[in-house]
Amino acid sequence: ADTSPWAVRTVSLASPRSFCAGVERAIEVVERLVDQRAGSGGTVYVRKQIVHNRHVVEDLERRGVVFVDELDEIPDDAPQGSVVVFSAHGVSPEVRDEAARRGLPVVDATCPLVTKVHAEARRFAGRGDTVVLIGHVGHEEVQGTLGQAPEHTVLVETAEDVADLEIPDPSRVSYLTQTTLAVDETAEVIRALKERFPAIKDPPSDDICYATTNRQDALAAVAAEADVVLVVGSANSSNSVRLVEVTRRRGIPAYLIDDASSIDPAWLRDARVVALTAGASAPQHLVRQVIDHLRTLGPVHISEDPTVQESVHFALPKQLRSP
Ligand code: F3S
Repeated sequence: ADTSPWAVRTVSLASPRSFCAGVERAIEVVERLVDQRAGSGGTVYVRKQIVHNRHVVEDLERRGVVFVDELDEIPDDAPQGSVVVFSAHGVSPEVRDEAARRGLPVVDATCPLVTKVHAEARRFAGRGDTVVLIGHVGHEEVQGTLGQAPEHTVLVETAEDVADLEIPDPSRVSYLTQTTLAVDETAEVIRALKERFPAIKDPPSDDICYATTNRQDALAAVAAEADVVLVVGSANSSNSVRLVEVTRRRGIPAYLIDDASSIDPAWLRDARVVALTAGASAPQHLVRQVIDHLRTLGPVHISEDPTVQESVHFALPKQLRSP
């Protein structure tokens, strides 16, 4: 292939990419709270990263937002008018109880699609089922979902884990999933569960959310023709990491980048077609920055052909809705 600097490189943009409705809402919650406090005082605390993206968190920090890992880091003498935001990934009831015990005013930015999974966990456990949660150990969303019915929920990560499961009554079992998993891998785990527990009940609708599914489909559509795939997203962003993994499983080189500065020129040396996407928590301006960077390396032709149009929008929490 002609890889001289004059050869035009094609950048195939996966579409949809970047922010989902849950991330947009969570960021807007924090921004509105910051604006409301301008002048009147009070600190906006956020428990955990509001969404899993380094740039988003750093931008909000510059605006005075204080991120804490746990509520006990918020001082008892926090300034009048302070508020704590729960991140998009959701919290366990224990965290809610602690906030209530401490009298902390809370605005909950949990994505409504995570809240839906929480409600299912409580409902399934309430009807006497053991709930098998498919998800990643230690991920914040998983911690929040496990906490809904901790005595009745077990976690599996892979199809292999299914063999070790011990379910007290195999006729009373249902499963749920984390919202940001790889669709192909999850299907395997579900298959293994159904083989071992034929009576297992599905959730009423897919728990892997529309944004995760759409971003994986959109990337698959462009990755097949690409020499290399770049995924804008942070290392702790589950849906971004899955975009890299599903692409690599198809034998296409793929790299996760926080921004243009993380691009290794060696990845691009022989790449005439670069597929570019961004995880649901990664801002669109970082994608533009990557394109600008690619332009500095030679002429670029951009192609974009959406696989689906997204129109999902979530209302703000009621404390923030205009009257
Ligand atoms: Fe919600 Fe899915 Fe985004 S669960 S936060 S819409 S990735």
